[in-house]
Amino acid sequence: MQKVVRFGVSIEESLLKKFDHFIKEKAYTNRSEAIRSLIRQNLIEKEWREKGVVAGGIALVYNHHKRELVNKLMDIQHDFPHIVISTQHIHLDHENCLEIVVVKGEAVEVEKLANRLGSIKGVKHSVLAKTTTGKEIS
Ligand code: NI
Repeated sequence: MQKVVRFGVSIEESLLKKFDHFIKEKAYTNRSEAIRSLIRQNLIEKEWREKGVVAGGIALVYNHHKRELVNKLMDIQHDFPHIVISTQHIHLDHENCLEIVVVKGEAVEVEKLANRLGSIKGVKHSVLAKTTTGKEIS
């Protein structure tokens, strides 16, 4: 277990009020937990901006009746076998599918894959959830 260090923070009253409101909204148990989370979030964003291995999920919603689209989704994923860890396919209704592609790899490559999948004609929505392998933020 790592040593925990206490430190004081000087902050404007009005900003602290807003921060406490934010803490309540996000359901953090206390200020320390909220500050830790914000620091980690910033470190993760840095990981994505710089070279390094990141993890994430690409969620795609599309109509599976469009066969060309389904083939393209598959072809592109096969161009990135070193990044795609797993895919989960959910049949939302008769025509709509939600596919979640779990990825781990160089940030640049992951973003390239997400952009290629998201820009296929017929994809209704795509989003890349950027997270971390966890190694750099403890
Ligand atoms: Ni489906």
